[in-house]
Amino acid sequence: MDTSMQGRVVLITGTGGGQGRAAALAFAAEGALVVGCDVDADSHAETTRLVAEAGGVLTGAAPVDLSDADQAAAWVDAAQAEHGRIDVLYNNASASRFAPIAEMSSEDWRFTVGNELDLIFYTTRAAWPHLVAGGGGCIINTASVAGLRGSRETGLLAHAATKGAVISMTRQMAVEGGPQGIRAVSISPGAVETPGTAAFFADPQIRAALVSHNLIPRPGLPTDIVAMAVFLASDAAAWVTGCNIVVDGGMMAV
Ligand SMILES: NC(=O)c1ccc[n+]([C@@H]2O[C@H](COP(=O)([O-])OP(=O)(O)OC[C@H]3O[C@@H](n4cnc5c(N)ncnc54)[C@H](O)[C@@H]3O)[C@@H](O)[C@H]2O)c1
Repeated sequence: MDTSMQGRVVLITGTGGGQGRAAALAFAAEGALVVGCDVDADSHAETTRLVAEAGGVLTGAAPVDLSDADQAAAWVDAAQAEHGRIDVLYNNASASRFAPIAEMSSEDWRFTVGNELDLIFYTTRAAWPHLVAGGGGCIINTASVAGLRGSRETGLLAHAATKGAVISMTRQMAVEGGPQGIRAVSISPGAVETPGTAAFFADPQIRAALVSHNLIPRPGLPTDIVAMAVFLASDAAAWVTGCNIVVDGGMMAV
């Protein structure tokens, strides 16, 4: 099975975060030329250091706020200018705000749409012509089980809406990208322990509740998700497109 990413140009968003950092390390270990970005400059710098320490290549920029169309396009175009092509766009970054329906402000709703949905549109729109010019490539979008099921916890309205939209926009990317050689797949993680979920997992009751949904009784690790992303981006997944892959320790099975 050929999962090598040797020499492939892989753009990963949110490389300062839990899954983004693990992705940068994993793709670089497979020989990819990784280009990352994050709105948080310090955490992206730490990932850059870790990848270099492991002997890999991670370039990119931070801070980059991908909810701003111009910043997103500039980051993509800089990657194209640096490497002359783009093979993979891994839309991993996101930020969400949570509140019960009646208490959610319009600002928090717009923030969530901007930082979970707009940013995927902006990077993908910018990368599309480069992918087409290069004969195709792969787009991986990070959705969530929140896009597939309701939650007894209140507060997930905006997050559920955006992650459901990530799944459906991925399908449309695959349809429109097919003739151009572009594959598009979404990954829906279950509950993964990362800086983004640290506050939830720090509460023993919430931690136990999150894990109790799983058939494999532990939180997800960033590497559980990223292993799937590496497979999906590789030639081994050449016949995989237009679908949503659930990686959730069995949560969705019950
Ligand atoms: N951790 C989980 O349980 C879980 C479950 C399902 C889905 N997901 C999804 O997985 C992905 C990665 O999540 P994570 O848990 O690693 O989160 P994380 O918070 O650890 O990392 C996300 C990174 O994205 C960056 N980011 C956010 N908005 C940005 C913007 N506008 N521009 C640039 N960078 C931005 C953040 O600074 C952060 O470093 C997200 O799309 C998240 O919704 C996570």
